[in-house]
Amino acid sequence: MTSHLVTNIGELVTWDADRPILHDAALVVEGGRVSWFGHRVDAPAADSSNDVGGAAVIPGFVDSHTHLVFAGDRSAEFEARMTGEPYAAGGIRTTVAATRAAPDEQLRANVARHLAEMRAQGTTTAEIKSGYGLTVLDEARSLAIAQEFTEETTFLGAHVVPDLSTGSRGDVAAYVDLVTGAMLEKCAPYARWIDVFCEDGAFGADEARTVLEAGIAAGLLPRIHANQLGHGPGVQLAVEVGAAAADHCTYLSDADVDALAGSGTVAGLLPGVEFSTRQPYPDARRLIDAGVTVSLATDCNPGSSYTSSMPFCVAVAVRDMGMSPREALWSATKGGALSLRRDDVGHLAVGATADYAVLNAPSFVHLAYRPGVPLVAAVS
Ligand code: NIG
Ligand code: FE
Repeated sequence: MTSHLVTNIGELVTWDADRPILHDAALVVEGGRVSWFGHRVDAPAADSSNDVGGAAVIPGFVDSHTHLVFAGDRSAEFEARMTGEPYAAGGIRTTVAATRAAPDEQLRANVARHLAEMRAQGTTTAEIKSGYGLTVLDEARSLAIAQEFTEETTFLGAHVVPDLSTGSRGDVAAYVDLVTGAMLEKCAPYARWIDVFCEDGAFGADEARTVLEAGIAAGLLPRIHANQLGHGPGVQLAVEVGAAAADHCTYLSDADVDALAGSGTVAGLLPGVEFSTRQPYPDARRLIDAGVTVSLATDCNPGSSYTSSMPFCVAVAVRDMGMSPREALWSATKGGALSLRRDDVGHLAVGATADYAVLNAPSFVHLAYRPGVPLVAAVS
């Protein structure tokens, strides 16, 4: 097996238990995995090498929450919000109509384009949800396309109730039956995760529980959109079913924070949403101080958060959510990996997949210190 040495690393972030951050460091990669890291002068000989000239090297970002299978544009909604309109979950149906009308080739090209944007900004692992098809056929093809790009695919047939003409609960019950029946059967082979949007205007606690339990019975792992637009039962439900992630967590009671702290559920914070909907940012400090594991992700979607940039999320989390630069980087890498129950990515300790980003900067702190600047020089 050939070995490759990356040397003259000004600052190396590994998240290794003993040496999480090193200076004047080097890294050896063999067979796609980290086989050694340490101080530059101690580096072993390798078959090839490159000198990064004192740059910082960080684990590739793990974006644990995206909705990349979509067509259409909702910039007009964003423009209206910036002049005072509130965000409404119902806007999802606009993207559903555009997605259903788009041929596979167009959806595939959109996913590829957004993943290329993400990679250029340091993301090396991305989760992708369905949720803009909302028919058996359109959800299944969304997931089949997503699976061409990532193993982290999530069935979100329970995103919103489509074509809800009467607003009666009967329609919701019929749609939950479809999601947990024929739709789940067709989609489960393409998905690792099951998700539900538990919120007023989408699905209530009992409906969400039904969806998650059906997904679990079909062999999928649960995660949830919870407490995004207001206080609600989503976080408690996430903990109750042992979900890997409760994402959004914008409106939390003390009981919600306590429940998360004693659980294996990662609280996913998605600052692009609050930026783009003018909602208050979630309080990361409160969660971290309570002992909750926090991840950061983009939630890249055309409605509530049309950013593909993890560095942007890191910068906002530091500036407006009470995170230190180190905490924000951890949440955007290792935290994202924990949200996806992965131990092979999100860090660069020995044995980890050698997914890393070389920054055009001497320290990872520049990710927040220089917001909006394209700092990712190379991605492996
Ligand atoms: O994560 N919360 C639900 N779904 C998306 C929004 C989707 C949309 O507005 O199109 C989210 O914010
Ligand atoms: Fe989302």
